[in-house]
Amino acid sequence: MGFKINACLVSVCLLALAPAVSPAFADGVGIAAPASSIIATAQSPDGQLQVDISLDGEGRAAYQVTRKGHLVIAPSRLGFVLTNGPKLDGKFTLGGMSSASHDETWEQPWGERRFVRDYYNEVRVDLVQATYDNRKMTVVFRVFDDGVGFRYELPDQAQLKQAKISEELTEFAVVDKATALWALGGELSNLEYLYKQTPLDEVSQAQTPMTIKTEDGTYIAFHEAALVDYPAMWIRRVDGQRLRTQLAPSAIGPAAVRMAPFTTPWRTMIITDNAPALLTSNIELNLNEPNKLGDVSWVKPYKYVGIWWEMHLEKSTWASGPKHGATTENTRKYMDFAARNGFRGVLVEGWNKGWDGVWYGDGKDFSFTEAYPDFDIRALSAYGLKKGVHLIGHHETGGNIAHYEDQMDDAFKLDESLGIDSVKTGYVHEFGAAQMRAADGSIFYGNTDSQQAVEHYLKNVVTAAKYHVAIDTHEPVKDTGLRRTYPNWVSREGARGQEYNAWGNPINPPEHDVNLVFTRMLSGPMDYTPGVLTLEGNKKDLLSTQAKQLALYVVLYSPIQMAADLPENYAKYPKAFQFIKDVAVDWDQSLVLNGEIGDYVTFARKDRHSDNWFLGSITDENARTLSVPLAFLTPGITYTAEIYRDGPNADLKGDARFDIVIEKQTVTSADALTLKLAPGGGEAIRFVPQGKAKK
Ligand code: NOJ
Ligand code: CA
Repeated sequence: MGFKINACLVSVCLLALAPAVSPAFADGVGIAAPASSIIATAQSPDGQLQVDISLDGEGRAAYQVTRKGHLVIAPSRLGFVLTNGPKLDGKFTLGGMSSASHDETWEQPWGERRFVRDYYNEVRVDLVQATYDNRKMTVVFRVFDDGVGFRYELPDQAQLKQAKISEELTEFAVVDKATALWALGGELSNLEYLYKQTPLDEVSQAQTPMTIKTEDGTYIAFHEAALVDYPAMWIRRVDGQRLRTQLAPSAIGPAAVRMAPFTTPWRTMIITDNAPALLTSNIELNLNEPNKLGDVSWVKPYKYVGIWWEMHLEKSTWASGPKHGATTENTRKYMDFAARNGFRGVLVEGWNKGWDGVWYGDGKDFSFTEAYPDFDIRALSAYGLKKGVHLIGHHETGGNIAHYEDQMDDAFKLDESLGIDSVKTGYVHEFGAAQMRAADGSIFYGNTDSQQAVEHYLKNVVTAAKYHVAIDTHEPVKDTGLRRTYPNWVSREGARGQEYNAWGNPINPPEHDVNLVFTRMLSGPMDYTPGVLTLEGNKKDLLSTQAKQLALYVVLYSPIQMAADLPENYAKYPKAFQFIKDVAVDWDQSLVLNGEIGDYVTFARKDRHSDNWFLGSITDENARTLSVPLAFLTPGITYTAEIYRDGPNADLKGDARFDIVIEKQTVTSADALTLKLAPGGGEAIRFVPQGKAKK
């Protein structure tokens, strides 16, 4: 622990006029421009990663990344196109440079791990455009042992008081031939696409995180951190393996409009030589500001059930009427079930006025303070609290952000008065467009990744914090680590979750959950809603074994985890349900024991509130045998391993999905377990200490 900043480091220094790697790359990556000179360089603390920043003969700024002396990112462009002035691209000279080093360990209020080390070397390069009244732009690079983050700063300057940015020119020119795991970015469907694995040079426009593996076994995950008051970044392939930032457009002007001084979000690359190491990087969180909310002990990790899956199965409706799900009586049933089984929360969707008629993409009828008459919100919240069960609020906006913002304060005020300390929001919009209000009061339809939507999502979280309410955003903008700054932003969706297994258009393929781990999950917690033990959607069969549904609680991190299935269905599988009751949601440590992109992954996590460890392992459509050393357990302690594994006949189809073996074994840290995962399968284990091991 501790903190230090050095004015200058040996590993970060000005290298005036050193030659840069030649920009003329045979495969087309790099920048076709006059010869460049490296103007600054920074290395990771372990010396293995190096970033060089250069200016070419036309004063264009670029950076390159080398790992163990091997170029992984060729010179890649930096800069902007503005609509209110000449480009911030070219005609730059070096105005100054400074460097720093940082080593600090900070504590998360909740998370995958309690302590996080933030250890990097930083270089700041001030660039000046003498031709344009000495306009200034600074780029800041932080080089960690497992990756790089960089951002732009536009200082306060009379020559550029406001930046109207139509394009950010940041590029990522990948040198070695690579395969990409990616989903479409900038498309219509709420970030809820299936992932594709293709050669990198077949990517069109991707959402981030996007993860690639190069031919020589280097893994790079591209993403951004601290997305505040700026459009989200998609990654567009320009040509070959050269990728460029594509800012989400604004419907009311240039993509980004900011008054100087301001900083952009960080552009991030986790760079490792194995797939598991991608999953334990803390770059995202480290590049966000510390907690701004002060005491957040009111933000509680928990498990929950809800009046939810039954709507997706079409057994009940969100709308009022004879099949209305959110009735007082039905909610009591769920609350009783929650209390009996140790769940803190009960989510109730369809509780409020506005669900009758076409609400999605519209949302104008929603009230966030008025319940339907058959839902006695006051009596129910009191009923639950007596049993230690909290109602979880639901604010589905139908993508009508303007309408929601008018009621947000009142809604959270009501929640706080009723002891509702978390709310799930929703933005089911159509064609990527949400209704928002411009500064002049007019309503416009804007992209949910746009600067205006980014502003709303954060405003929602900050407003909720005033009333001690935690937020779980569905149809969100992607996560960029803002939970560090606003720890009440506990979870979000932002990918295809379990609900697609109810609708089946198509059902999530077995590899989907593994793909999530190596893409979406790199950004932060996901409210995936696992635990459908019936393995049945709305007349569709889930492509999962029962053991895999259990493993997902450990694999897909979220501090709030739903037991998604219906209470009566859990009654059918009490033994498997026991794991859902037992599994922790808040961790001291999280380790990745093995894994490969698109194939399989195994996590071990230590509960933050007991000495128990948990293991979750999942595979794609292929069966796998994995040997897992238990070296993570505390030496000298004997544990009972409560194992929930795929049975010998477990498979992807029909009844074979229910073949689960539940057994106990005594183990120590000196043992290894052999996990036999069925196609579409998984394994979940709880390790409970018995006492001191015999020597
Ligand atoms: C989509 C959300 O992801 C889902 O969980 C919710 O039930 C519906 N919207 C209705 O709000
Ligand atoms: Ca959704």
